[in-house]
Amino acid sequence: MRMVDIIMDKRDGKKLSQEEIDFVITGYTDGSIPDYQMSAFLMATYFTDMTDEEITYLTMAMSQSGDMIDLSEINGIKVDKHSTGGVGDTTTLVLAPLVASVGAAVAKMSGRGLGHTGGTLDKLEAIPGFEVEIQNDQFIKIVNESHVAVAGQSGDLAPADKKIYALRDVTSTVDSIPLIASSIMSKKIASGADAIVLDVTTGDGAFMKNLEDAERLAHTMVRIGKLANRQTMAIISDMSQPLGNAIGNANEIQEAIDALRGNGPEDLMEMVYVLGSQMVVLAEKAATLEEARKMLEESISSGKALNKFKEMVANQGGNPDVVDHPELLPQAKYTFELPAKESGVISKMVADQIGVAAMLLGAGRRTKEDVIDYAVGLNLNKKVGDAVQEGESLVTIYSNREDIEDVKKVLYDNIFISESGIEPKLIHEIIT
Ligand code: URA
Ligand code: CA
Repeated sequence: MRMVDIIMDKRDGKKLSQEEIDFVITGYTDGSIPDYQMSAFLMATYFTDMTDEEITYLTMAMSQSGDMIDLSEINGIKVDKHSTGGVGDTTTLVLAPLVASVGAAVAKMSGRGLGHTGGTLDKLEAIPGFEVEIQNDQFIKIVNESHVAVAGQSGDLAPADKKIYALRDVTSTVDSIPLIASSIMSKKIASGADAIVLDVTTGDGAFMKNLEDAERLAHTMVRIGKLANRQTMAIISDMSQPLGNAIGNANEIQEAIDALRGNGPEDLMEMVYVLGSQMVVLAEKAATLEEARKMLEESISSGKALNKFKEMVANQGGNPDVVDHPELLPQAKYTFELPAKESGVISKMVADQIGVAAMLLGAGRRTKEDVIDYAVGLNLNKKVGDAVQEGESLVTIYSNREDIEDVKKVLYDNIFISESGIEPKLIHEIIT
């Protein structure tokens, strides 16, 4: 087999075989296929697309390029949840303990944040002592005993994806649906869950800026998951404005605690119930979505969900007292309000730019090497569709520096007030 022939076939829109795709991925991972040939292959894929079968071969080859995590020692059906990225996305912090509290096994591998998006691992590290680097055997033990652990990826997961992603980044081939779908699913499949719930976000704060692309990506990933023998479903959710009110780290932990008490922002609660019900059904802990939702609501009102959160924090070395003593979470030196310059209705809050404002405060990373300040962040006091009076606070800003003119400018430039505005639809579609 020769790489040049495979590139030619892909260029001409021919369907590649499993052997050919394996050859490409194995060769690129071990270095026998050079960057220039892989670049041409990626660009050919970008222009001619792939069939579901080809995408599945690609996904499986990438997931088998490194460690395949074996979670078979964990009893029951292991469910995982993945979001394609957002701003202020506090969902996992609430979902993981909540779903575990009704008996489903949540073995969650999460990531860190970069740019305008925050990462669940960073947020959890805002809790004093919380440890996200857990060895595999310890991870399995915790999930077996307590039904929940949220950890960073251990071992060498999908190294082919790492190498290919870096090349895509510099060859303008990131925004290709077969390449995104295989990249995400290869990591999910290698991390060993039996069932996968995908939250495909759409809007300014998301990878997929429009609904049509989000639909294609979601359908593609669901089909790949099923072809790879994992129960997979997806929702398409709005990320045109941030999710919930808190954007940061310690303040998102606080928001998650509030949500586990049943007092979270409406949009966050809805996301949690919709995704959570799907996870509970996939884990076969409820027969219907209605039954699952009732179980989750009951777990929140009885305090069971919040107790599970405390247990999760304690199991991973964190101080569970943060739940009842918010002052134990990192606190910023200064609090500022952002007064509205006029009266009206909020018509738009550009999610990615509001994420950038939080990053400027230190809540996120500009580069991988940046160190996060857990105490700082933003709390939105208004969301799209809310009425506002001139002088009323739009955003509360938690900062460790006194001069925040740069942050205020980004916020003012990206929060729009007009005569009317309607709350965006939160969940566009459910794909099973
Ligand atoms: N996230 C991934 O992991 N891969 C992509 O290609 C895009 C988003
Ligand atoms: Ca939030």
